[in-house]
Formats: sequence, C-alpha cells, structure tokens
Amino acid sequence: MGGDGTGDTLTITDNRTGRSYEIPIELGAIRATELRNIRTNDDDVGLMSYDPAFMNTASCKSSVTFLDGERGILRYRGYPIEELAEHSSFLEVAYLLVRGDLPEQPQLRDWTHLITHHTFIHENIKKFIDGFHHDAHPMGILVGTVGALSTFYPDAKQIFDEGSRRLQTIRLIAKMPTLAAFAFRHAVGQFYAYPDNDLSYVGNFLNMMWKATELKFEPNPVLEHALDVLFILHADHEQNCSAHAMRTVGSSHADPYSATSAASAALYGPLHGGANEMVLRMLDKIGTVERVPEYVQQVKEGKFRLMGFGHRVYKNYDPRARIIKRVADEVFEVTGRNRLLDIALELEKVALGDDYFVSRKLYPNVDFYSGIIYQAMGFPVDMFPVLFAIGRTPGWLAQWEEGLQDPEQKISRPRQLYVGPPERHLER
Ligand code: CMC
Repeated sequence: MGGDGTGDTLTITDNRTGRSYEIPIELGAIRATELRNIRTNDDDVGLMSYDPAFMNTASCKSSVTFLDGERGILRYRGYPIEELAEHSSFLEVAYLLVRGDLPEQPQLRDWTHLITHHTFIHENIKKFIDGFHHDAHPMGILVGTVGALSTFYPDAKQIFDEGSRRLQTIRLIAKMPTLAAFAFRHAVGQFYAYPDNDLSYVGNFLNMMWKATELKFEPNPVLEHALDVLFILHADHEQNCSAHAMRTVGSSHADPYSATSAASAALYGPLHGGANEMVLRMLDKIGTVERVPEYVQQVKEGKFRLMGFGHRVYKNYDPRARIIKRVADEVFEVTGRNRLLDIALELEKVALGDDYFVSRKLYPNVDFYSGIIYQAMGFPVDMFPVLFAIGRTPGWLAQWEEGLQDPEQKISRPRQLYVGPPERHLER
C-alpha cells in the first residue's frame, strides 16, 4: 500500500456467487465501472452503484475548488476564500478560476481591458428583452437571454479551439452584468443604461442598474467593494447543482452560452441560488423578532424549511457566511441597518441553540445574510439570484473548460434502476 494511495485496493466478496474481486482505490475512490465485472452469470450486465442526488459519487476530478464541509474550508485553486475576499478583486478571482493562477499586473491589466470592452450586447438583445412581460422575473429573462447569445456568436460552437473558448469566456463574464441590469430596467420600465468603460466591473454594473439623469454615475466605493466581495464569495463552489448542469450540458459539446443558460436555470431553484430570495420573503413573513420561536417551531414540525440554513456539504458554519456578516456591517454604515437583520440574528441564535438544527448540523449558509445586504443596497428581491449568477459565471466557465479538456470525460449519461411494469401488450 503506497502512502500516496497508490496500491490501495478494496476486496469485495459477492455472496451470491462466493467470488471475490479486488478493486483499485485511487484518490480515496473506487471506479464505479469496476463494479460491472461483478456478475452472477454471462447474461448479467454487472453490478451498478445506486446514488440518487450524487450523495457519494465523484463525477469528475477537479483542480478548481477545494471544499471541506466538515471543517468549513473553501479554497479556489488552493487559495483560502478568506484571503481572496480580503486581498483580491472579483476580476482577479475570475482570472484565477478560469486560467488557474492569479494574474500578474500586466495580465490583470489586459484581462480588465478585455472584460471592460466586451460589456456591450447586440442591440437586438434589447428587443428580445422588450418582448418579456413587464413583471417577468429577471432570472427568467437572464436564463433566456444568455442562451440567446449563442445565436449571436456562432463561433462559440468551436469549443475545441482554445482561442474561441477564451473569447466566449471573456464575453460571458463581461455581458452577464449587462443582461442582468437590462432585465431589471425592463421590469421597472426604465431606459437601458449603457456600460461605462471608466468604471470598475462592479461599478459599471451599479451604473447600469441605477443611472438616472446624472451625466456620470458615481458608485459609492463602500457598496462597490462590498458587492465585489460578495461576487468573490459566490464565484465557485465545486460540484454543486448548477456547476453540474454546466458540465452536463457541456459534455454534449453544446456551446458555452447554452450551457450557461442551463446552469443559470439550475441556480434559479429555491434550493440553490433562489434561496437568497426566499430568505428575504421568509424574514418578511416572520415580521418581528417576537415571532421567531413560533416560526422555528413550525420548521421543526416539518411545515417548511428554514431558508438560508443547511447545506449538502457544509456540516459546519459556512465560511462564506462568516465573511458576509462582516461585509454587512460595512454596508449598513452607508445604507442604515436593514430592519430584517434583527430577525435574522434572532433566527440564527434560536436555531443554533436548538437540538433539531444542531443534531442535523444545520448552519447558516451563504444565502442567509447575502439577501439582507442586497436589500439594504436597494436591489429588489427577485434580483438576488441574478446577482448570484453574475458572481458564479467564472466558476461555471472554469468547470466547463476543465470538463471539456478532461480525457476521461464523455457525454454525461447516468444509469437507472428500472422499476416500471414488465413487458405488457395492448389489449386491442
Ligand atoms: N430547514 C429545516 N430542516 C432542514 C433544512 C432547513 N433549511 N435543511 C435540511 N433540513 C433537515 C431535513 O428535513 C432533514 O431532516 P430529517 O433527517 O429529519 O429528514 C435533514 O435536515 C437533512 O436534510 P436533506 O434534505 O437530506 O439535506 P440535503 O443535503 O439534501 O439538502 C439543502 C441541502 C441546502 C437543499 C437543504 O439544507 C435546504 O433545503 N436548505 C434550505 C435552502 C437553502 O438555503 N439553500 C441554499 C444552499 S447554499 C447556496 C447554494 O449552494 O445554492
């Protein structure tokens, strides 16, 4: 047995046949396809593993993000999230995720220039957005318009051309804030504010969101920095539901706009990126600090879930939630305290002191506090998942590219255990 794990094996005895099989262990895992050799007779297709929702199945090898849910650790390309949030910008982190290393100054200059100069969208996209109903959810608009970008960039189909992949990556990171802000302006019936190349990535997004009659929009530096940090915290999270959607659609060799649309759709759900919106709606429904114990009791009775609590992999405090609490203080200095904060703090206190949540290791996740900050900054609740999508785009692209370049990957195609009727015939 090698100290690096090489030479480790697992011996399985099939009690149906009495035969034993030795299966190699690599990186702490066995290959599920090895199980196919375990058969009872020549007609047997072989043993499968059954793992609904991928509770214990690694679908890829990845060098993008490291996550240890038991110890509350999150690293992008090896760098702890705390250090990145403190000392780098979102565009540096985006570069780190998609290129593998932090940029040197000249690289960062070029990267920033390229992203800044790809923020415009084709005028026809505006017409497309105009076609949505006035109360269309901006996330629905984002899912539709980002997919529609594929029709404007047919060169994106050249997924095995490195130059094309790089160009689409830049376009997607650059245009997501534009699509997001235009979706919002459409909903409120305001003119579309065009990108301003003098501003930072986040500053420009705030400009496209809020610009009114002023000749030049000047973002508040504290809010600009806070949103930059929030984007960093959302930039990747290894094999979550939307990254998996991105990889799965990418595995059929669809273009990255279509894959990003699928990833955005996965993010839209209330159990994933839609949770930040649901947290706010929940806090609003609770209404007062006094009603918190009653609400928690109803959660324990299984009537509904505590949104913003719990995580498939974090069984400890989500490290992103810790950083977000600090960002919240900075934002409230500028915007004033969000009235929902007291309810959230009380909810956290009551839940963390209750055996129901403690025994199930349910802690606040990234979405518990992010919504409160977004709301204090003036974003309407239905924009929250859209903000998440902007931050997550570099992570999706890094996962997509890694999947495409992995020689072990093929089109994604799980197996099933058929439990339907046996063969039967029409009685006609
Ligand atoms: N409130 C109350 N009970 C919960 C919650 C919650 N938020 N989350 C899990 N549980 C209970 C669940 O009822 C189950 O209890 P029991 O064993 O008695 O049946 C136990 O905890 C395990 O739950 P699970 O559904 O098996 O856990 P999961 O890993 O499948 O679900 C989750 C993870 C995030 C979907 C879930 O915790 C949840 O629904 N949370 C609320 C939605 C939310 O905040 N989502 C954002 C996740 S973080 C951002 C992101 O990655 O998108």
